[in-house]
Amino acid sequence: MHILVTGGAGYIGSHTCIALIDAGHTVVVVDDFSNSHPESLRRVEAICNTTIALYRGDVSDAALLQQIFTEHKIDGVIHFAGSKAVGESVEKPMLYYRNNVTASQTLIETMQSAGVHTLVFSSSATVYGDPHTVPILEDFPVGATNPYGRSKLMVEQIIQDQAVANGQFNGIILRYFNPVGAHPSGKIGEDPNGIPNNLMPFIAQVAVGKRPQLAIFGGDYPTKDGTGVRDYIHVCDLAEGHVKALEALHGQTGSHIFNLGTGNGVSVLEMVQAYAKVSQRPIPYQVVARRPGDVAQCYADPGYASVTLGWQATRNLNDMVASSWHWQSSNPHGYREA
Ligand code: UFG
Repeated sequence: MHILVTGGAGYIGSHTCIALIDAGHTVVVVDDFSNSHPESLRRVEAICNTTIALYRGDVSDAALLQQIFTEHKIDGVIHFAGSKAVGESVEKPMLYYRNNVTASQTLIETMQSAGVHTLVFSSSATVYGDPHTVPILEDFPVGATNPYGRSKLMVEQIIQDQAVANGQFNGIILRYFNPVGAHPSGKIGEDPNGIPNNLMPFIAQVAVGKRPQLAIFGGDYPTKDGTGVRDYIHVCDLAEGHVKALEALHGQTGSHIFNLGTGNGVSVLEMVQAYAKVSQRPIPYQVVARRPGDVAQCYADPGYASVTLGWQATRNLNDMVASSWHWQSSNPHGYREA
Protein backbone atom coordinates (compact mmCIF):
# COMPACT_ATOMS: atom_id res chain seq x y z
CA MET A 1 0.00 0.00 0.00
CA HIS A 2 0.98 3.66 -0.47
CA ILE A 3 0.63 5.36 2.89
CA LEU A 4 0.73 9.09 3.63
CA VAL A 5 2.27 9.63 7.07
CA THR A 6 1.58 13.05 8.57
CA GLY A 7 4.20 14.00 11.13
CA GLY A 8 6.38 11.24 9.72
CA ALA A 9 9.62 12.87 10.91
CA GLY A 10 8.53 12.81 14.55
CA TYR A 11 9.33 10.26 17.21
CA ILE A 12 6.52 7.76 16.59
CA GLY A 13 6.15 8.76 12.93
CA SER A 14 9.76 7.99 12.01
CA HIS A 15 9.63 4.56 13.67
CA THR A 16 6.34 3.84 11.90
CA CYS A 17 7.86 4.78 8.53
CA ILE A 18 10.48 2.07 9.12
CA ALA A 19 7.85 -0.49 10.14
CA LEU A 20 5.79 0.32 7.03
CA ILE A 21 8.78 0.08 4.69
CA ASP A 22 9.94 -3.15 6.38
CA ALA A 23 6.49 -4.60 5.71
CA GLY A 24 6.74 -3.72 2.01
CA HIS A 25 4.65 -0.54 1.92
CA THR A 26 5.58 2.78 0.28
CA VAL A 27 5.66 5.88 2.44
CA VAL A 28 4.98 9.54 1.64
CA VAL A 29 5.61 12.02 4.45
CA VAL A 30 4.21 15.46 5.19
CA ASP A 31 5.82 17.28 8.11
CA ASP A 32 6.31 20.93 9.03
CA PHE A 33 9.29 20.13 11.31
CA SER A 34 7.81 22.27 14.09
CA ASN A 35 8.66 19.56 16.61
CA SER A 36 10.92 17.29 14.57
CA HIS A 37 14.06 17.34 12.46
CA PRO A 38 14.55 16.43 8.78
CA GLU A 39 17.63 14.45 9.83
CA SER A 40 15.35 11.76 11.29
CA LEU A 41 13.97 11.02 7.82
CA ARG A 42 17.43 11.00 6.25
CA ARG A 43 18.33 8.34 8.81
CA VAL A 44 15.16 6.37 8.09
CA GLU A 45 16.14 6.41 4.42
CA ALA A 46 19.63 5.15 5.31
CA ILE A 47 18.31 2.41 7.62
CA CYS A 48 15.80 1.22 5.00
CA ASN A 49 18.05 1.87 2.00
CA THR A 50 15.30 3.77 0.19
CA THR A 51 14.11 7.29 -0.54
CA ILE A 52 10.95 8.81 0.90
CA ALA A 53 8.80 11.40 -0.87
CA LEU A 54 8.72 14.34 1.55
CA TYR A 55 6.46 17.38 1.56
CA ARG A 56 7.37 20.16 3.95
CA GLY A 57 4.23 21.81 5.24
CA ASP A 58 1.20 21.82 7.43
CA VAL A 59 -1.72 19.41 7.46
CA SER A 60 -4.12 22.35 7.65
CA ASP A 61 -2.90 23.37 4.16
CA ALA A 62 -5.65 21.81 2.00
CA ALA A 63 -3.91 22.78 -1.25
CA LEU A 64 -0.77 20.91 -0.18
CA LEU A 65 -2.79 17.83 0.76
CA GLN A 66 -4.60 17.96 -2.59
CA GLN A 67 -1.25 18.16 -4.35
CA ILE A 68 -0.01 15.07 -2.47
CA PHE A 69 -3.18 13.11 -3.28
CA THR A 70 -2.82 14.12 -6.94
CA GLU A 71 0.87 13.23 -7.18
CA HIS A 72 0.56 9.88 -5.36
CA LYS A 73 -2.10 7.18 -5.39
CA ILE A 74 -2.56 7.08 -1.62
CA ASP A 75 -4.32 4.02 -0.11
CA GLY A 76 -4.43 5.27 3.45
CA VAL A 77 -3.26 7.99 5.82
CA ILE A 78 -1.63 7.65 9.24
CA HIS A 79 -2.14 10.95 11.04
CA PHE A 80 0.50 11.69 13.69
CA ALA A 81 1.00 15.42 13.12
CA GLY A 82 -0.13 17.54 16.04
CA SER A 83 0.87 19.21 19.26
CA LYS A 84 1.29 17.01 22.31
CA ALA A 85 2.37 18.84 25.47
CA VAL A 86 -0.31 18.80 28.14
CA GLY A 87 1.00 21.90 30.01
CA GLU A 88 1.36 23.96 26.83
CA SER A 89 -2.21 23.01 25.86
CA VAL A 90 -3.51 24.63 29.05
CA GLU A 91 -1.61 27.84 28.24
CA LYS A 92 -2.39 27.90 24.50
CA PRO A 93 -5.65 26.00 23.98
CA MET A 94 -6.42 27.64 20.62
CA LEU A 95 -3.09 26.41 19.25
CA TYR A 96 -4.09 22.87 20.21
CA TYR A 97 -7.56 23.11 18.72
CA ARG A 98 -6.10 24.55 15.50
CA ASN A 99 -3.17 22.13 15.16
CA ASN A 100 -5.02 19.04 16.31
CA VAL A 101 -8.73 19.51 15.58
CA THR A 102 -8.92 21.94 12.63
CA ALA A 103 -6.02 20.31 10.83
CA SER A 104 -7.61 16.85 11.24
CA GLN A 105 -10.88 18.18 9.86
CA THR A 106 -9.07 19.58 6.82
CA LEU A 107 -7.30 16.26 6.32
CA ILE A 108 -10.54 14.26 6.46
CA GLU A 109 -12.32 16.67 4.08
CA THR A 110 -9.44 16.56 1.62
CA MET A 111 -9.27 12.76 1.86
CA GLN A 112 -12.96 12.58 1.01
CA SER A 113 -12.65 14.78 -2.06
CA ALA A 114 -9.61 12.78 -3.19
CA GLY A 115 -11.38 9.44 -2.66
CA VAL A 116 -9.00 8.28 0.09
CA HIS A 117 -11.03 6.47 2.73
CA THR A 118 -8.67 4.89 5.27
CA LEU A 119 -7.40 6.93 8.20
CA VAL A 120 -5.37 5.75 11.19
CA PHE A 121 -5.46 8.33 13.96
CA SER A 122 -2.90 8.82 16.68
CA SER A 123 -4.96 9.07 19.86
CA SER A 124 -3.95 8.69 23.46
CA ALA A 125 -4.81 6.90 26.67
CA THR A 126 -5.22 10.39 28.06
CA VAL A 127 -8.83 10.22 26.76
CA TYR A 128 -9.64 7.85 29.66
CA GLY A 129 -8.91 10.63 32.19
CA ASP A 130 -8.62 9.14 35.68
CA PRO A 131 -9.83 5.54 35.18
CA HIS A 132 -11.94 3.99 37.94
CA THR A 133 -10.17 0.67 37.51
CA VAL A 134 -7.21 -0.77 35.63
CA PRO A 135 -6.51 -2.42 33.22
CA ILE A 136 -8.37 -0.11 30.85
CA LEU A 137 -10.71 -1.48 28.17
CA GLU A 138 -11.71 0.45 25.05
CA ASP A 139 -15.31 0.84 26.23
CA PHE A 140 -14.35 2.58 29.48
CA PRO A 141 -15.83 6.07 29.90
CA VAL A 142 -13.81 8.86 28.30
CA GLY A 143 -13.27 12.38 29.57
CA ALA A 144 -10.17 14.46 29.22
CA THR A 145 -8.88 16.90 31.82
CA ASN A 146 -6.95 19.33 29.58
CA PRO A 147 -7.18 20.88 26.10
CA TYR A 148 -4.67 18.39 24.64
CA GLY A 149 -6.80 15.46 25.75
CA ARG A 150 -10.00 17.19 24.66
CA SER A 151 -8.50 17.82 21.22
CA LYS A 152 -7.79 14.08 20.87
CA LEU A 153 -11.34 13.23 21.97
CA MET A 154 -12.82 15.76 19.54
CA VAL A 155 -10.93 14.22 16.63
CA GLU A 156 -12.06 10.75 17.71
CA GLN A 157 -15.64 12.02 17.57
CA ILE A 158 -15.10 13.68 14.17
CA ILE A 159 -13.81 10.34 12.84
CA GLN A 160 -16.80 8.46 14.25
CA ASP A 161 -19.21 10.98 12.73
CA GLN A 162 -17.49 10.75 9.36
CA ALA A 163 -17.72 6.95 9.50
CA VAL A 164 -21.49 7.23 10.00
CA ALA A 165 -21.93 9.75 7.18
CA ASN A 166 -19.56 8.27 4.60
CA GLY A 167 -20.17 4.56 4.07
CA GLN A 168 -16.73 4.08 2.50
CA PHE A 169 -14.75 5.65 5.35
CA ASN A 170 -12.52 3.42 7.48
CA GLY A 171 -11.47 5.29 10.64
CA ILE A 172 -8.99 3.50 12.90
CA ILE A 173 -8.38 5.15 16.27
CA LEU A 174 -5.29 3.95 18.14
CA ARG A 175 -5.03 4.97 21.79
CA TYR A 176 -1.37 4.86 22.74
CA PHE A 177 -0.21 4.31 26.26
CA ASN A 178 3.36 5.53 27.00
CA PRO A 179 5.69 5.06 24.01
CA VAL A 180 9.38 4.81 24.92
CA GLY A 181 12.61 3.34 23.57
CA ALA A 182 14.16 3.63 20.14
CA HIS A 183 15.03 1.75 16.98
CA PRO A 184 17.72 -0.90 17.67
CA SER A 185 20.12 0.85 15.25
CA GLY A 186 20.45 3.73 17.74
CA LYS A 187 20.08 6.10 14.76
CA ILE A 188 16.59 7.41 15.47
CA GLY A 189 14.84 8.09 18.76
CA GLU A 190 13.00 10.64 20.84
CA ASP A 191 14.49 14.13 20.62
CA PRO A 192 12.33 16.56 22.59
CA ASN A 193 12.78 20.31 22.31
CA GLY A 194 13.97 21.91 25.55
CA ILE A 195 13.24 20.34 28.92
CA PRO A 196 11.51 16.98 28.41
CA ASN A 197 7.94 16.76 29.75
CA ASN A 198 7.98 12.99 29.81
CA LEU A 199 9.69 10.58 32.13
CA MET A 200 11.82 8.48 29.79
CA PRO A 201 13.60 11.25 27.85
CA PHE A 202 14.18 13.05 31.16
CA ILE A 203 15.80 9.98 32.72
CA ALA A 204 17.86 9.48 29.55
CA GLN A 205 19.19 13.06 29.78
CA VAL A 206 20.07 12.58 33.47
CA ALA A 207 21.89 9.34 32.64
CA VAL A 208 23.93 11.01 29.90
CA GLY A 209 24.82 13.92 32.20
CA LYS A 210 22.75 16.66 30.52
CA ARG A 211 20.58 17.18 33.60
CA PRO A 212 21.62 16.84 37.23
CA GLN A 213 18.64 14.94 38.64
CA LEU A 214 15.13 13.69 38.06
CA ALA A 215 12.17 15.09 39.98
CA ILE A 216 9.75 12.26 40.76
CA PHE A 217 6.27 13.76 40.81
CA GLY A 218 4.65 12.21 43.87
CA GLY A 219 5.68 9.39 46.19
CA ASP A 220 2.31 8.98 47.91
CA TYR A 221 0.10 7.44 45.22
CA PRO A 222 -1.84 4.28 46.14
CA THR A 223 0.51 2.16 44.00
CA LYS A 224 3.09 -0.56 44.68
CA ASP A 225 5.82 1.90 45.72
CA GLY A 226 3.93 5.21 45.89
CA THR A 227 5.05 6.48 42.49
CA GLY A 228 2.90 6.71 39.34
CA VAL A 229 2.32 3.54 37.32
CA ARG A 230 2.15 3.58 33.51
CA ASP A 231 2.03 1.17 30.59
CA TYR A 232 5.32 1.85 28.79
CA ILE A 233 5.37 0.40 25.28
CA HIS A 234 8.38 0.06 22.99
CA VAL A 235 7.99 2.51 20.10
CA CYS A 236 8.85 -0.26 17.60
CA ASP A 237 5.96 -2.38 18.95
CA LEU A 238 3.71 0.66 18.66
CA ALA A 239 4.91 1.28 15.10
CA GLU A 240 4.17 -2.33 14.16
CA GLY A 241 0.69 -1.92 15.65
CA HIS A 242 -0.04 0.71 13.00
CA VAL A 243 1.02 -1.61 10.21
CA LYS A 244 -1.09 -4.45 11.63
CA ALA A 245 -4.09 -2.15 11.97
CA LEU A 246 -3.82 -1.03 8.34
CA GLU A 247 -3.38 -4.56 7.07
CA ALA A 248 -5.99 -6.27 9.25
CA LEU A 249 -8.69 -3.66 8.61
CA HIS A 250 -7.90 -3.09 4.92
CA GLY A 251 -11.14 -2.81 2.94
CA GLN A 252 -13.33 -2.46 6.02
CA THR A 253 -15.53 0.53 6.83
CA GLY A 254 -16.78 2.22 9.97
CA SER A 255 -14.77 3.30 12.99
CA HIS A 256 -12.59 1.11 15.17
CA ILE A 257 -10.88 1.85 18.48
CA PHE A 258 -7.87 -0.01 19.90
CA ASN A 259 -5.67 0.35 22.94
CA LEU A 260 -2.01 -0.05 22.06
CA GLY A 261 -0.20 -0.97 25.25
CA THR A 262 1.49 -3.95 26.86
CA GLY A 263 -0.88 -4.51 29.77
CA ASN A 264 2.01 -4.17 32.27
CA GLY A 265 2.14 -1.39 34.83
CA VAL A 266 5.61 -0.05 35.65
CA SER A 267 6.26 2.53 38.38
CA VAL A 268 8.52 5.58 38.08
CA LEU A 269 10.95 4.04 40.59
CA GLU A 270 11.04 0.75 38.67
CA MET A 271 11.88 2.68 35.51
CA VAL A 272 14.64 4.64 37.26
CA GLN A 273 16.15 1.40 38.61
CA ALA A 274 15.95 -0.32 35.21
CA TYR A 275 17.64 2.63 33.51
CA ALA A 276 20.44 2.86 36.08
CA LYS A 277 21.12 -0.86 35.72
CA VAL A 278 21.24 -0.86 31.91
CA SER A 279 23.17 2.39 31.51
CA GLN A 280 25.50 1.72 34.45
CA ARG A 281 25.05 5.39 35.31
CA PRO A 282 23.63 6.87 38.51
CA ILE A 283 20.16 8.44 38.16
CA PRO A 284 19.94 10.89 41.07
CA TYR A 285 16.34 11.75 41.93
CA GLN A 286 14.25 13.65 44.41
CA VAL A 287 10.64 12.90 45.21
CA VAL A 288 8.63 16.14 44.94
CA ALA A 289 4.95 17.07 44.94
CA ARG A 290 2.51 15.40 42.57
CA ARG A 291 2.19 16.98 39.11
CA PRO A 292 -1.28 18.48 38.70
CA GLY A 293 -3.50 16.37 36.44
CA ASP A 294 -1.48 13.14 36.84
CA VAL A 295 -3.29 9.91 37.64
CA ALA A 296 -2.01 7.16 39.93
CA GLN A 297 -2.23 4.25 37.51
CA CYS A 298 -2.88 3.89 33.80
CA TYR A 299 -2.37 0.66 31.93
CA ALA A 300 -4.13 -1.09 29.09
CA ASP A 301 -6.04 -4.24 28.54
CA PRO A 302 -4.52 -4.88 25.09
CA GLY A 303 -6.67 -7.96 24.38
CA TYR A 304 -8.90 -6.42 21.72
CA ALA A 305 -5.92 -5.44 19.51
CA SER A 306 -4.48 -8.91 20.01
CA VAL A 307 -7.67 -10.70 18.95
CA THR A 308 -8.69 -8.33 16.15
CA LEU A 309 -5.39 -7.18 14.68
CA GLY A 310 -3.19 -10.13 15.59
CA TRP A 311 -0.86 -7.66 17.25
CA GLN A 312 0.74 -7.63 20.65
CA ALA A 313 3.80 -6.00 22.11
CA THR A 314 6.81 -8.35 22.06
CA ARG A 315 9.55 -6.18 23.57
CA ASN A 316 10.10 -6.00 27.34
CA LEU A 317 11.19 -3.25 29.73
CA ASN A 318 14.84 -4.14 29.27
CA ASP A 319 14.50 -3.75 25.48
CA MET A 320 12.85 -0.35 25.99
CA VAL A 321 15.55 0.93 28.34
CA ALA A 322 18.50 -0.55 26.42
CA SER A 323 17.34 0.92 23.10
CA SER A 324 16.66 4.31 24.72
CA TRP A 325 20.16 4.31 26.18
CA HIS A 326 21.73 3.22 22.88
CA TRP A 327 20.05 6.18 21.12
CA GLN A 328 20.75 8.69 23.90
CA SER A 329 24.39 7.72 24.46
CA SER A 330 25.17 7.70 20.71
CA ASN A 331 23.30 10.99 20.09
CA PRO A 332 23.66 13.02 23.30
CA HIS A 333 22.35 16.12 21.50
CA GLY A 334 19.69 14.31 19.51
CA TYR A 335 19.56 15.15 15.80
CA ARG A 336 21.10 18.57 16.28
CA GLU A 337 24.70 17.38 16.08
CA ALA A 338 24.24 16.01 12.61
N1 UFG B 1 7.17 11.74 35.86
C1 UFG B 1 8.06 12.11 36.84
N2 UFG B 1 9.02 13.04 36.54
C2 UFG B 1 9.13 13.61 35.30
C3 UFG B 1 8.21 13.22 34.30
C4 UFG B 1 7.25 12.30 34.62
O1 UFG B 1 8.00 11.62 37.97
O2 UFG B 1 10.02 14.45 35.10
C5 UFG B 1 6.17 10.70 36.16
C6 UFG B 1 4.74 11.17 36.02
O3 UFG B 1 4.29 11.77 37.21
C7 UFG B 1 4.03 9.87 35.67
C8 UFG B 1 5.08 9.09 34.88
O4 UFG B 1 6.31 9.67 35.22
O5 UFG B 1 3.74 9.13 36.85
C9 UFG B 1 4.89 9.20 33.39
O6 UFG B 1 4.82 10.57 33.01
P1 UFG B 1 4.94 11.04 31.49
O7 UFG B 1 4.88 12.52 31.48
O8 UFG B 1 6.09 10.38 30.83
O9 UFG B 1 3.64 10.42 30.81
P2 UFG B 1 2.10 10.65 31.18
O10 UFG B 1 1.57 9.29 31.52
O11 UFG B 1 1.87 11.72 32.12
O12 UFG B 1 1.57 11.19 29.79
C10 UFG B 1 1.80 10.50 28.61
C11 UFG B 1 1.89 11.48 27.45
C12 UFG B 1 0.59 12.15 27.21
C13 UFG B 1 -0.48 11.13 27.10
C14 UFG B 1 -0.49 10.21 28.29
C15 UFG B 1 -1.49 9.11 28.14
O13 UFG B 1 2.85 12.46 27.70
O14 UFG B 1 0.67 12.85 26.00
O15 UFG B 1 0.77 9.61 28.45
O16 UFG B 1 -1.72 8.50 29.35
F1 UFG B 1 -1.67 11.75 27.00
